Amino acid sequence: MELEAVTKSYARWAPVYDRTFGAVTHAGRRRATGFANHVGGTVLEVGVGTGLALPFYAPHMQVTGIDFSEEMLAKAREKVAEQRMAHVRALRQMDARALDFAEGSFDTVCAMHIMSVVPEPECVLSEMARVCKPGGHVLIVNHFAAEGTGAMARLERLMAPLSDLLGWHSDFARARVLGDLRLQLVEEDALPPLGLMTYLRLRRLD
Ligand SMILES: C[S@@+](CC[C@H](N)C(=O)[O-])C[C@H]1O[C@@H](n2cnc3c(N)ncnc32)[C@H](O)[C@@H]1O
Repeated sequence: MELEAVTKSYARWAPVYDRTFGAVTHAGRRRATGFANHVGGTVLEVGVGTGLALPFYAPHMQVTGIDFSEEMLAKAREKVAEQRMAHVRALRQMDARALDFAEGSFDTVCAMHIMSVVPEPECVLSEMARVCKPGGHVLIVNHFAAEGTGAMARLERLMAPLSDLLGWHSDFARARVLGDLRLQLVEEDALPPLGLMTYLRLRRLD
């Protein structure tokens, strides 16, 4: 999606996101935050949205979130204040294609339900690899296009022109997040419900 479409779409989504798409996609947030908590240290959540994953990080973590949508970020800030989440160090407005962090700043970099939303996902992936420490991990949760000619693949192709309205691309190819030579795929799992989302863990090579 173009950034202008992202801005418009997520200004509309922000008031209802937690009760709709957000409510049925917790499995991926639980999975990614569980891994990050196990590693410990610093986390960058790219496209933090309304902050639905923030309560799942353990108190010993140091979490930074960025998002382009001011409306989504405002919801995240409300949650942090209401729930007094001391582990959330910063929430910043930023384009994921140009992360304002030094190389190797974070132990773990997460992108949940955002790779099929952002403009230039390869560029976002490259930025995520850059700010991840060597030996650290990039975690991706996303829906990827079904392969072949089955009903799901046909439905995804039918919905593809509606991406600006929906707020994401329904026919996003998995290969688009596997092309960075600094990142090695080490784990992959289909997530409930119905395996619609996939969890990918990529290790940042030295
Ligand atoms: C479907 S929401 C996912 C939010 C959250 N990660 C979650 O799991 O609920 C996609 C988010 O990506 C953000 N986004 C889209 N393009 C972006 C960009 N270029 N830079 C930063 N955030 C972006 C949107 O504003 C939106 O909050």
